[in-house]
Amino acid sequence: MTPAGPRPSRSGGGDGRRRHARWLRRRPLRTRLTLAASAAVAAVAVGVCVAAFLVIRHQLLHQLDLHLSQSARLAAQQAQHEPLGVLQGECRYLAAPACAQLVPADAARDPESPYRLPVTEATRQVAAGQRAAYYSELDLAGHRGRMLTRPLDDGRALQVAVRADTVDRGVRQAAWLLGAVGGVGVLLAGGLGWWVSRTGLAPVGRLTATAERIASTRDARHRIELPPGSPDGADEVTRLAASFNLMLDELERSVTARRRLVADASHELRTPLTALRTNVELLARGDRLTDAQRQRAQAGLDRQLREVTLLVNDLIELARDEEPDPLLEEVRLAAVVAHTVSAARGHWPDVPFRLSTDPDAETATVAGVPQRLSRLMSSLLDNAAKYSPPREPVEVTLTASQSSLEVTVRDHGPGIAAEDLPYVFDRFYRARSARALPGSGLGLAMARQIADAHDAKLTAEHAPGGGALFRLLFPRT
Ligand SMILES: Nc1ncnc2c1ncn2[C@@H]1O[C@H](COP(=O)(O)OP(=O)(O)O)[C@@H](O)[C@H]1O
Ligand SMILES: [Mg+2]
Repeated sequence: MTPAGPRPSRSGGGDGRRRHARWLRRRPLRTRLTLAASAAVAAVAVGVCVAAFLVIRHQLLHQLDLHLSQSARLAAQQAQHEPLGVLQGECRYLAAPACAQLVPADAARDPESPYRLPVTEATRQVAAGQRAAYYSELDLAGHRGRMLTRPLDDGRALQVAVRADTVDRGVRQAAWLLGAVGGVGVLLAGGLGWWVSRTGLAPVGRLTATAERIASTRDARHRIELPPGSPDGADEVTRLAASFNLMLDELERSVTARRRLVADASHELRTPLTALRTNVELLARGDRLTDAQRQRAQAGLDRQLREVTLLVNDLIELARDEEPDPLLEEVRLAAVVAHTVSAARGHWPDVPFRLSTDPDAETATVAGVPQRLSRLMSSLLDNAAKYSPPREPVEVTLTASQSSLEVTVRDHGPGIAAEDLPYVFDRFYRARSARALPGSGLGLAMARQIADAHDAKLTAEHAPGGGALFRLLFPRT
């Protein structure tokens, strides 16, 4: 084990940001959206105000320099006749025109009286023509001023100054005004963000409320109200709500189907169980029965037990549909059919099963679950053998075409009456004529369920020449 050394210290800023992010993630979505929308709008408002302030300030300062250079041009025209160092104007007063003074390049030629505007080495250089004109800041009797120093042709420099505090006041006023506008903008952004999150999240709120209601009442009949129109063109939340409703439809259907299956099954089990109980009670009083009576009761008991077992097995198979999809594999249909036909031959020795397989169909495969396909096939073969007279053949064919694979099972029995045809695939449905034979009425329901799960179509019809004909059609990919 390595000894635990001192942990490297993290930067405080990163920690703070992380804590902040965690805090934000714990807030409700509405708060986060409000904050995000407000922050975005506020940032724009503040940004626009700052930009406006910078532009205005630049313009005001530029105006001042323009004014200075115009004044300088005027003063330069008069300067020919003026002696050195004369100060024009009075810069102390706000409304006064610019004040000006003339400075020679050579300090020896300076006038007696002192200069009123500051003269530096740079001023001399401008007078000597060694330096370009320049602007500078200065103090004018306690006020901020701005000065332009420019050369004249005769070896002198002209200095022109004005008070700049008028501009400063303008800049300050602009700052206050734009600050106020920005503040109102931020307030407005807050309101706007709140409104955006409220209206934007209203459908999500409805979605949540519905989901919570379903969770608490366990009743899948609730739906989210959708705006009229097709959900395809709607916004994401509406589409989410639509698919949520779709899921609820599915859930409700599955719950109803399961409930109905349980109800039907208990109903169907009641009759054979009652008969079983009667026979058991009869046998319990065995001493008072004749041998023939006892044997009859015994046989009845046997048959009813078999029936109940069959019913329960079929029910289990039917309920299996609700399980998650087992992994599909490529199933060679010809092999499944051959296998189930040979199993049926063992089961029904009196019935000749004839199987004919198209050479094309020999190797054709479908995506499916082999055990379930076998269940489907044996259900059809059992019916054919059960409902047709002994020694009548049952014909099974497997044919292939470009677009499909088809299995048919045909018998030479009485066939299915036209009024029964629409119902034979229903659970527990048995034609009146079939009720003497053992069965649960679940075989075809299960067969169709398996076919549906494999995207195949299972149909029943009258065979030309009598008997029943079942077709199972797999589309080919
Ligand atoms: N080959 C067939 N010939 C005549 N009737 C059939 C045939 N196959 C199915 N049926 C009818 O369809 C009904 C439903 O069949 P099925 O679901 O397999 O139930 P079961 O075989 O338990 O009666 C049967 O009761 C019968 O009336
Ligand atoms: Mg059956």
